[in-house]
Amino acid sequence: MTNWNQYHPVFEYEQVDSRVLQHSAWVGHRQFSYDLVRSCQPRLLVELGTHWGASFFSMCQGIKDGNLSTLCYAVDTWLGDPHSGGYNVEVFHNVSKITSSLYSRHTTLLRTTFDEALAQFQDDSIDLLHIDGFHQYEAVKHDYESWLPKVAPDGIMLFHDISVHGFGFGVWKLWAELKEQYPALQFEHSGGLGILFPKGVHASCKQLIERWEELKSSYESR
Ligand SMILES: C[S@@+](CC[C@H](N)C(=O)[O-])C[C@H]1O[C@@H](n2cnc3c(N)ncnc32)[C@H](O)[C@@H]1O
Repeated sequence: MTNWNQYHPVFEYEQVDSRVLQHSAWVGHRQFSYDLVRSCQPRLLVELGTHWGASFFSMCQGIKDGNLSTLCYAVDTWLGDPHSGGYNVEVFHNVSKITSSLYSRHTTLLRTTFDEALAQFQDDSIDLLHIDGFHQYEAVKHDYESWLPKVAPDGIMLFHDISVHGFGFGVWKLWAELKEQYPALQFEHSGGLGILFPKGVHASCKQLIERWEELKSSYESR
């Protein structure tokens, strides 16, 4: 069984621009996501919803430090949505600048809708898919259903904001349905993060599951 390691990374992006973290509800999951990519070493990683880049760059940092050959795609219109609000083009320029200065190897920004990006990926190809777009129930359900065929055997799906009730958020509702159907783990802090194994459990995550209570509390306090 693969050992689950907990690293002590330096997240270089925060030294370049502190706004990446200021604007994100995702910050409490960056240590876990870093360890996840180091452990599961995905060949193809796709993020749906990047905004300022806190989640994407945290995973890119793991890929860079692990000298992995992962192909990483960030998909976003970089226009905003009814929950994140509209924002100006400066955000995309900032994400591009950080990508090219720190994480350019194997990283692609797709400035388009999730639906339009679908055709660029083959079925059963994505080893790690992070869904963090518009959080209304129907929207996230659509993202899940349309991208599930793209997930590889033993691929991992991450869902942000599974703990947020109110504000018209509905990820919690979809998550309640999915975790009944497939092996799943979840964090409640920092908006909540769901970890779903819809097509089998990746070998790198077997120890994560076995040691979950211990590892979960360690990530919640970091
Ligand atoms: C919650 S933010 C992402 C936060 C980011 N993961 C982080 O770490 O801070 C959601 C993003 O998804 C994008 N988005 C929402 N629905 C989309 C869609 N259907 N196609 C493309 N982008 C979308 C928005 O533009 C917004 O930037």
